[in-house]
Amino acid sequence: MGVVKGKILVIDDEEALLEACEETLSYHGYEVELRNRPEAGIEAVRGHSFDLVLIDLKMPGIDGLQVLRMIKTIDVQLVAVVVTAFPEIDTAVQAIREGAFDYLPKPFDPEQLLIVVERSLQQKRLVDENAYLRQALGERSEADDIVAHSAKMRQVMDLVDKVADQDCSVLIEGETGTGKEIIARRIHALSHRRDRPFLPIQCSTLPEHLVESELFGHERGAFTNAHARKQGLLEMVQGGTIFLDEISTTGLETQAKLLRVLQEHKVRRVGGQELVDIDIRVLSASNEDLQEAIAQNRFRQDLYYRLNVVKVLLPPLHERSEDIPLLVDMFIRRMNAKRDKPLQGIGPDALALLLDYAWPGNVRELQNIIERACLLATASIIQVADLPEYLHEGKISAPMESTLQQARNRFDRQYLRALLQECQGNVSRAAVVAGMHRSSFQRLLKKHDLHSEEFR
Ligand SMILES: Nc1ncnc2c1ncn2[C@@H]1O[C@H](COP(=O)(O)OP(=O)(O)OP(=O)(O)O)[C@@H](O)[C@H]1O
Ligand SMILES: [Mg+2]
Repeated sequence: MGVVKGKILVIDDEEALLEACEETLSYHGYEVELRNRPEAGIEAVRGHSFDLVLIDLKMPGIDGLQVLRMIKTIDVQLVAVVVTAFPEIDTAVQAIREGAFDYLPKPFDPEQLLIVVERSLQQKRLVDENAYLRQALGERSEADDIVAHSAKMRQVMDLVDKVADQDCSVLIEGETGTGKEIIARRIHALSHRRDRPFLPIQCSTLPEHLVESELFGHERGAFTNAHARKQGLLEMVQGGTIFLDEISTTGLETQAKLLRVLQEHKVRRVGGQELVDIDIRVLSASNEDLQEAIAQNRFRQDLYYRLNVVKVLLPPLHERSEDIPLLVDMFIRRMNAKRDKPLQGIGPDALALLLDYAWPGNVRELQNIIERACLLATASIIQVADLPEYLHEGKISAPMESTLQQARNRFDRQYLRALLQECQGNVSRAAVVAGMHRSSFQRLLKKHDLHSEEFR
């Protein structure tokens, strides 16, 4: 016997069909296992590894689609081909949606069987090889460059990688700048939808009265200014992933509309009759705790359950300072591409300051600071002087290095920043709290180069 071309499991209640498959496939060099009951088939998948499974969709006791689903939960990689009677093409299509690779209509002859089996295995090999090549060639997207060295982030990444290809809704919660979007992109990149679009939708910028026509599209003449039929965003993303960013900012009306789409997987264009099937995955993000929004009746609980099949919680940067040196390193390497002379890294004092800071703006703030430092740096490494002053404010640890005036200035700046933060950039209120006239308060801000807008 020559080399075994692959190991195939056939699950069918018809003995005659099992025998026919075995004869053809083993004659052509495949190793074949047969099971005449669905339960036994599932058991076989649990116990052995196969390259391909052939499942009859119509068997007594248990529905073939059910068998397919169970097999997929045991081994997502396993190539499944379903066998259907000719009038059941709908079921076959459904099976392919649920992860079958191909289908074979009954009755079939040995030639057809071989073609489908060979084609499926070959395509699978190509897909595997492509994924392998992409990795080997270093054709990496930013989503591959996620720093996750700390225990907290490793846990997050384990979860993300596990659910990425499960096609479930994922809600990503985390403070501003913690990496919600980059995580959403990774989930998409690791899913079977990776070759279809990924579309971030900034919910805070969707005007309530335009939500429907933006998301669902409209027919010509549906309303004034609807001069032509327009496809909605959801239709355009067909087969891909949408990322609903800042989901808590949507109004209740929009939430009701989103919920309907998520339940029915269909949309009707504004002014249209036809229902269009929608096959997209929904990822969403929020930088506030949605439970709180629900408690305040600003967010629908039923929509929350739809979006939150899996929740990924991104820890704030100050809770994972082990990641800071690696993030700094990566941001420097990226910036080096824009410099004549590459920077070698960061000095220990400068790094110590970064490790000590509270990072209200999280990874994005760190990125901004490093990018700025790379532009300012005059030595071959980033030094304390290249970092913004507010990082070393509040540290009176080295009074010998500064005059009283410098120390006072530092204190003033730190006080003013904290105050503006507290008053969310409202200068009048901050001035009252500081016990100053608004105009002198303004002057003080100017002197320290502080801008109230940045705190709103
Ligand atoms: N773990 C990480 N590794 C590498 N880069 C990261 C990481 N987390 C975030 N970043 C980078 O930090 C920046 C902010 O990340 P991102 O936009 O994903 O955050 P966000 O949570 O969506 O922020 P916001 O709430 O402000 O929308 C991006 O440039 C991203 O590439
Ligand atoms: Mg974001």
